[in-house]
Amino acid sequence: MLTNKSLIAPSDFTLEEIEELLSLSERIIQSPERYASVCRGKLMASLFYEPSTRTKFSFDAAMLRLGGNTLGFSDPNTSSTAKGETIADSARTIGKYADLIVVRHPKEGTAKLMSRYADCPVINAGDGGHHHPTQTLTDLLTIRHYKGDFGGLTVGVCGDLKFGRTIHSLVTCLARYENVRFLFISPEELTMPAFVKEELNANGVPYAETTDLEGTIDQLDVLYMSRVQRERFISEEEYLRLKDYFILTAEKMELAKPDMIVMHPLPRINEIATEVDNDPRAAYFEQVRYGMFVR
Ligand code: NCD
Repeated sequence: MLTNKSLIAPSDFTLEEIEELLSLSERIIQSPERYASVCRGKLMASLFYEPSTRTKFSFDAAMLRLGGNTLGFSDPNTSSTAKGETIADSARTIGKYADLIVVRHPKEGTAKLMSRYADCPVINAGDGGHHHPTQTLTDLLTIRHYKGDFGGLTVGVCGDLKFGRTIHSLVTCLARYENVRFLFISPEELTMPAFVKEELNANGVPYAETTDLEGTIDQLDVLYMSRVQRERFISEEEYLRLKDYFILTAEKMELAKPDMIVMHPLPRINEIATEVDNDPRAAYFEQVRYGMFVR
């Protein structure tokens, strides 16, 4: 039972619970009108200490379409944080008003900290370069739509694997399914962090690391692209040097399997050329739609 449970990382949910959520999302997609008032009288607080378009709007849209209400901020300068209030006190306070807190914060661990102090469940909408579990649920629903199942897939994740929280959440979650294999495609400066690799090693999940997208794209069933996370770099120079390292073009897509899908959590900067958008294998805008249903 998922009621009253916080969600900080995908590992907070068992595979059965994830299955329950994905099936429920599919039922909502089938007949949204049946769910139009299931959250009547409920209030969701969305606290965005970092910029967001899709995540914030999809949470808000989901709550409103389920008949509930939302309150919150997308500019922390308008909250008491600007006066120096601690996260713990903000959680204690907001938890007294709302039935659910959704929080995005630049600092790793913030959602977990809030969940210790709030009287209501907390959903992590992204904590620094750590985790982003509801994006993973979005990604799983998308993969299931296109591929039917998660087992047996070769999944390539490409771009900023060091700071990409959506990637950390997706890889650690998909690794729990049978027979999934990963290719980590990144510049040497942005390889997958140890906390992810250790988890894969401990569970005997196969992965390989490469700097070569063109030479490996033909092996993939799913290619998950990501932007270089400018806001997490200490040096702007380093960001500028790495930002155009991988650009997926129509020419590279010619090397891929005819049924490989391309995903991206968005926002895209320039790592996928717009010419790829019309390729039937481009799944990233459909992926956006699933985000609202899963949330
Ligand atoms: C991602 C995020 O915020 O981590 N965006 C999103 O939630 N869809 C990816 C990103 O910002 O690069």
